[in-house]
Amino acid sequence: MPRNIVLVGLPGAGKTTVARLVAAALGRQAVDLDDMIAERAGRSIAEIFETLGESGFRALERAATDELRHRDGLVVATGGGWATNPGCMEALAASDVIYLVVDPDEAAARVAGQGTARPLLAGADAAQKIRELLARREASYLLAGQRVDTTGVGTEIVAERVLALASGGSHP
Ligand code: S3P
Repeated sequence: MPRNIVLVGLPGAGKTTVARLVAAALGRQAVDLDDMIAERAGRSIAEIFETLGESGFRALERAATDELRHRDGLVVATGGGWATNPGCMEALAASDVIYLVVDPDEAAARVAGQGTARPLLAGADAAQKIRELLARREASYLLAGQRVDTTGVGTEIVAERVLALASGGSHP
């Protein structure tokens, strides 16, 4: 089986949508780690943050990642903090990890339009919060072997670029 493709990057980078498009194009399974965590926990991500705090969420994130350690051929959308969660990147090291780069202001605009609960961005000034997340996380995101800039680019085109980069990708 081909290596997993793992997408990392800020909230609003398009990881979930692009993973679905890439998986569909390759006839592979898309896995959204946040969905997996919520399913295993029987609660939404927002509820997990409320009841267990961020550290509880990170423990569940590590456990979900560990479940994928021996799987291959997947297209995995990670959560925005996954790359900084100790052990996660290492668990999926035998994957093509791709950083979806996005300008923080654009990420904030995309997230505002999505209505998805993102506890770390709750309250005022999501753009400022995303800028702070980027400052803290960029070094981890840059550990990805490859990058695709998504700023000003639609998800279909981003998916084509990911396909072109990923091993086994049969697209331009
Ligand atoms: C988080 C981002 C979320 C989700 C959780 C924590 C983060 O995923 O994993 O709310 O730390 O940035 P998205 O990147 O899909 O928003």
